[in-house]
Amino acid sequence: TVVDAAGQILLPGFVDMHTHLREPGREDTETIESGSAAAAAGGYTAVFAMANTSPVADSVVVTDHVWRRGQEVGLVDVHPVGAVTVGLAGTQLAEMATMAAGVGQVKMFSDDGHCVHDPLMMRRALEYSSALGVLIAQHAEEPRLTVDAVAHEGPTAARLGLGGWPRAAEESIVARDALLARDAGARVHICHASTAGTVELLKWAKGQGISITAEVTPHHLLLDDSRLETYDGVNRVNPPLRERSDVEALRAALADGTVDCVGTDHAPHAEQDKCCEFAQARPGMLGLETALAIIAQTMVEPGLLDWRGVARVMSERPAEIVGLPDQGRPIAVGEPANLTLVDPNHEWTVHGPALASIANNTPYEAMTFGAKVTATLLRGRPTVLGSVVQR
Ligand code: DOR
Ligand code: ZN
Ligand code: ZN
Ligand code: ZN
Repeated sequence: TVVDAAGQILLPGFVDMHTHLREPGREDTETIESGSAAAAAGGYTAVFAMANTSPVADSVVVTDHVWRRGQEVGLVDVHPVGAVTVGLAGTQLAEMATMAAGVGQVKMFSDDGHCVHDPLMMRRALEYSSALGVLIAQHAEEPRLTVDAVAHEGPTAARLGLGGWPRAAEESIVARDALLARDAGARVHICHASTAGTVELLKWAKGQGISITAEVTPHHLLLDDSRLETYDGVNRVNPPLRERSDVEALRAALADGTVDCVGTDHAPHAEQDKCCEFAQARPGMLGLETALAIIAQTMVEPGLLDWRGVARVMSERPAEIVGLPDQGRPIAVGEPANLTLVDPNHEWTVHGPALASIANNTPYEAMTFGAKVTATLLRGRPTVLGSVVQR
């Protein structure tokens, strides 16, 4: 295969620490196959599939299925994320050691916001994870501090009559878990940091030498709660879209390394679960196929990151944090490589049905972006060429 890369940027294959595929359980919205195609189209060579499937990924049976199916599809390495507890809001720690020792070699565990309810569970999980050498990922979505939390608590939600979700919900968990990680001698990863206050807490914790890392989503780098005016359920997401001041703080934090990397929180949902009243719509947005375009627009164009920095936040740092030794290191001559080719001057318009995902819940419908992934190579094999997935 010959690829004309004139004028394009060659980057290491992207790594997404935060992808929701819906297999097993909701294959009508995304399968490991369709999600792998979406990931490859977005320039990813590895994704971490979150544990909130049905059944929950709390056993080696599920985590091994996810890994094996991903290898069978062959477009991207689909690393399973295990659940911390048996069931998503469980009161018993899951068999993390067994999942880590399976063919899926689970490296990261998460409960999608649920284990935060109980500080004792979180403390035990951190102690156990540190003994096993695995990572606990904290969503910091709950407790929400109000009973009807659907949108960021602020002037917009108040005016629109939407239940508010205060920043303190996230920040109190980030602060708590930084301290718990310190005491347990463990590492903790904060999923989808969304507030300026979380950025301040990360700065403080890192300054104390606490092993804390964090990701930010493309949508929290681009969108704010002014999007809610239309009451369109497509804009409902956990954590909620915040204010412009939060967006600016998150961009600066990703530029200076306070926030380590980008995680998409790719969350496919069926049409009928998104088209209803805002408060009834399921939270979540598609993210894999638009991530690079948004990083180019929000970080590269304003001069906050150069392309070297994009390689760091999209590939090298996530690989380092989660422990993928073959990613983000210099490759030897002749070694099959994971690579992503980006055209920094390629205009394209997002159209949900044209995306590889089964679901269409993109908040960027009809928006035009200036950069696009044109080729992806997984261990030397093209999985995307000329923006077309090579199935
Ligand atoms: O908005 C979200 N939706 N945030 C999450 O972290 C979970 C996700 C989902 O599974 O739909
Ligand atoms: Zn989450
Ligand atoms: Zn998520
Ligand atoms: Zn369209």
